[in-house]
Amino acid sequence: MSVDEIKKILNSLIELPAMPNVVTKALSVIKDPNSGARDLSKVVSNDHAITVELLKMVNSPFFGLSQNIQTVDQAIALLGFNEVKSIILACAMKPMMTSQCGKDIWEHSINTAIAAETIAKKLGRRDYDESFAQGLMHDLGKMVFEMYNSKKMTEAIMLARGGADILVAEKMVFGFDHTEVGNVLGKRWELPKQIISIMTQHHKPQASEFKTSACIIYLANRIVQDPSPLIIVEPEVQPHLGFEITNVDGFRRQVLDKARLLLRNLNSL
Ligand SMILES: [Fe+2]
Ligand SMILES: [Fe+2]
Repeated sequence: MSVDEIKKILNSLIELPAMPNVVTKALSVIKDPNSGARDLSKVVSNDHAITVELLKMVNSPFFGLSQNIQTVDQAIALLGFNEVKSIILACAMKPMMTSQCGKDIWEHSINTAIAAETIAKKLGRRDYDESFAQGLMHDLGKMVFEMYNSKKMTEAIMLARGGADILVAEKMVFGFDHTEVGNVLGKRWELPKQIISIMTQHHKPQASEFKTSACIIYLANRIVQDPSPLIIVEPEVQPHLGFEITNVDGFRRQVLDKARLLLRNLNSL
């Protein structure tokens, strides 16, 4: 199945949502080395709904702050630029993802985002907000399948539950998989290069030009999806990982607890 055929499917989806404006702008602030807290604050303050949600989130039990935060600037000063960027993205993506993808992909995306952010922090990376964003968006290709034909998507998921690799299952059902769709979708939405690469290569991070970032998402995705105490990594991926998670069970518990709390607070906005 060719890229043209994926494009045909995207074109047939008259309801294919646009990437929320505030996400595009927040992503460009994240990527621009010259931009800072003030630019982000400006982007958010122009979007009343997001400002309200952001303030509700930062005052929720998820952050457990003792003082009440009333402005975006205050939130950035108290929680830090990165934390606030991640919360903005999660708030801005929620309506589109929950309405188009359904509960399972939304939960999986938040779980992966939290796991990726935690791994990035463990590695001492200062750009852990980028890992959060990549975790949140890595499976957006599945959203297209859901919208195009949710019955067929369920068929692919059932095949995967029966032991088939999800990419193989999707190929059998649709003729192509969610990473190929993610690539076309990411380009159409003009997402940053790094996010497109992660949407395309999170199942084979060795092929990504952003190997460490792709490996973080690969591992985060595997840990939250696979309940086993040992994550067996494909031999082609192992040499590129460059890090490992010891005590996978403990790590998974920590991540899923945090993700559950975030989801509960996001869903109650
Ligand atoms: Fe995936
Ligand atoms: Fe995934």
